[in-house]
Amino acid sequence: MKESTFINLGATNHGKSKREENDYYATEPIAGKLLLEIEPDLNNIWECACGEGHLAKVFDEAEKLGKATDLINRGYGTVEDFLINTNPYHNGDIVTNPPYKYAQQFVENALERVDTGRYVCMFLRVLFLESQSRKKLFTTQPPKTVYVFIIFFSTHCSP
Ligand SMILES: C[S@@+](CC[C@H](N)C(=O)[O-])C[C@H]1O[C@@H](n2cnc3c(N)ncnc32)[C@H](O)[C@@H]1O
Repeated sequence: MKESTFINLGATNHGKSKREENDYYATEPIAGKLLLEIEPDLNNIWECACGEGHLAKVFDEAEKLGKATDLINRGYGTVEDFLINTNPYHNGDIVTNPPYKYAQQFVENALERVDTGRYVCMFLRVLFLESQSRKKLFTTQPPKTVYVFIIFFSTHCSP
């Protein structure tokens, strides 16, 4: 069984505003740093919905980034629709904070593209685990680990 990790994240909170087109919400880079700390074997990472590179830059600095792509050119990585199988195989791990409305497709698509033993890590809301429509996914390829990140934002951070 391929290893998969479903994770909640410290995404920029747009809860009260209109949802961004293409579900663009930048992830707090600290979430990527914490992930590398707890999953040090991650390597040759494909950030397949990279946005402006908030996660990808962290992976690049740690020399763990294989490639970064997004449907939209946001000034980082290259343009590629992850849900179209132009690159069906990835010789490494896949990590992203996907567009929530296509989260399940991203998880399924990612699991198909990596080898057994590699990682698919998705930053998702905990709510993702609750849907009955994902019963088949969770029965056939259940998440190996679920980390719940709680990130507190403050304008008065102590060093
Ligand atoms: C929630 S944002 C996350 C951005 C980035 N991963 C981060 O953590 O900061 C989701 C991103 O998915 C991209 N996206 C939406 N549909 C996509 C698709 N079919 N293929 C690739 N990227 C897609 C959006 O353009 C957006 O940048």
